[in-house]
Amino acid sequence: MPASMTAGAERDPCKGLGCMFGDPRGLLGAAALAAMALKNGGQNKAALDALDPKPGESVLEIGCGPGMGVRAALKRVGRAGFVAGVDQSATAAHFAAHAVHDAVRQGRAVIMRADAADLPFREHLFDRAFAVNSFQFWPDPARALREIARVLAPGGRLVVTQRASSLDNPTTFAGAAAGMERIAQAGALLKTQGWRMIDERCVPDGARLLAVSIVAEAPR
Ligand SMILES: C[S@@+](CC[C@H](N)C(=O)[O-])C[C@H]1O[C@@H](n2cnc3c(N)ncnc32)[C@H](O)[C@@H]1O
Repeated sequence: MPASMTAGAERDPCKGLGCMFGDPRGLLGAAALAAMALKNGGQNKAALDALDPKPGESVLEIGCGPGMGVRAALKRVGRAGFVAGVDQSATAAHFAAHAVHDAVRQGRAVIMRADAADLPFREHLFDRAFAVNSFQFWPDPARALREIARVLAPGGRLVVTQRASSLDNPTTFAGAAAGMERIAQAGALLKTQGWRMIDERCVPDGARLLAVSIVAEAPR
């Protein structure tokens, strides 16, 4: 399937440097994606540790950016597994498709341009799903979480992970201070929609906090 396939409406272009992390496009977007590929390995690991995908399972990443999470998930599900990555940004989708092109060619991965709220997959296709540093950008998170529930198997696991900082150890990374609030917002929506809450976990990085994750199971 083409990496640039579109599902969902076009959005108004976001302007300014900060937008390049929520809507990477053009040369600046490519630079932001390269930075994400370098800097977000710890959060991807935290998300996948919480997701705990098994060999042979199918996994979806929402907001896959440069594709490092998809690549890491492919290692966990092995050659019998399948990983799909979606991102609303065409630049990110191309970047990610390049990062995992061998697996795409072998039919073990697919990268698509799609919005979290309008996923181009059939019901109950995936065993597990995860999103890293992406939830805060979804324009309609309630609709997106319902859509993720639709494509997950009943009882399938979702992990939402955010970069985070504790109050006494602030970090310089943009958005980290809001990580806890975002996870709280995701948790409130998931509860309202009947997901089963499994865990909320913080992953430290020395004296700092690296990531916070919420783990939930789709309604049965
Ligand atoms: C900060 S990047 C994180 C990328 C990657 N998960 C990581 O941690 O390196 C956020 C990504 O979410 C994507 N995104 C934002 N809103 C989205 C939406 N509504 N649906 C799908 N992807 C979205 C952006 O295009 C961007 O690539």
